[in-house]
Amino acid sequence: MKVLVTDPIADAGLERLRDAGHEVETAYDVEGEALLSAVSDANALIVRSGTEVTDEVFEAATELVIVGRAGIGVDNIDIEAATEHGVIVANAPEGNVRAAAEHTVAMAFATVRSIPQAHIRLRDGEWAKSEFVGTELNGKTLGIVGLGRVGQEVAKRLDSLGMELVVYDPYISQERAAQFNAELVGELEECLERADVVTVHTPLLPETRGMIGAEELELLEGGYLVNCARGGIVDEEALAAAVEDGTLAGAAIDVFETEPVPADSTLLSVDDVVVTPHLGASTEAAQENVAVDTAKQVLAAFRGEPVANA
Ligand code: NAD
Ligand code: MLT
Repeated sequence: MKVLVTDPIADAGLERLRDAGHEVETAYDVEGEALLSAVSDANALIVRSGTEVTDEVFEAATELVIVGRAGIGVDNIDIEAATEHGVIVANAPEGNVRAAAEHTVAMAFATVRSIPQAHIRLRDGEWAKSEFVGTELNGKTLGIVGLGRVGQEVAKRLDSLGMELVVYDPYISQERAAQFNAELVGELEECLERADVVTVHTPLLPETRGMIGAEELELLEGGYLVNCARGGIVDEEALAAAVEDGTLAGAAIDVFETEPVPADSTLLSVDDVVVTPHLGASTEAAQENVAVDTAKQVLAAFRGEPVANA
């Protein structure tokens, strides 16, 4: 069988497929006609978030059995088209959860203590100590939007740092929230109003696209917003404006509406917005986990066995 891999994954996953006797072709960053041609005889396609797996790709991929997503979000895969073409879509829902949670916590600290901004000033030769008086997380309220796998790991970590936890997630129970020492609220607005720091952990869905815009950001007045989930959940223009005009004290963003983020994106030019290039899952452990999990799913699909999914 031929496995086409179009976004870089850890060698451990590639080796597992080769050891099982399959041909593995890596073609990173291919798009357009080159992607359609590469996928035309593939039996499996493995991607991360870089490859858009559209209806056109499924049309071209006449031999395709499975698309493996070496990570969590499947928003770059047209699931409806996959279903129409009888192709399995399997993600790796567990392997990078702790990495994503740790990055969220790191980004929360980065913004409330202005770590990147202070770093740049010091590297430029300025000892700007008096300009960087930060906010302590201890005793503040954390608003968690989406208490799924990543949200829960963030809750555990920030609870242990002495934060009060308020959660908005319409699909979980009060009992579930209580297991994480968190109070579940019924409205996003209440979560934003009560929080000093908000972290976002929902999938990108039609329902969550743009769910935090200018009006919602006003409710978080004076606070900080961290998004390591998906670009498009938070309105980028509104966020940039809210930080620029002082409605928010700061923000930390790992994910963008367009990736790679264009150099002229407004968010990149706002001093109190800390940015990273979609690094949430970028640890060696996480990448090895998701690569191996994805390889196992592809092998299961080739054997006609059930494929575990999120
Ligand atoms: P999950 O499916 O386990 O949890 C998502 C949670 O969001 C669920 O509890 C769900 O009930 C909740 N939710 C759904 N719709 C909602 C809404 N309208 N309002 C509030 N809550 C809602 O997902 P996860 O594994 O925790 O991943 C969370 C996000 O993090 C995803 O977008 C994923 O793609 C992203 N992610 C990013 C990185 C990265 O590299 N930055 C790494 C891993 C995951
Ligand atoms: C994910 O959804 O798992 C993340 O986007 C991580 C990634 O693959 O970069």
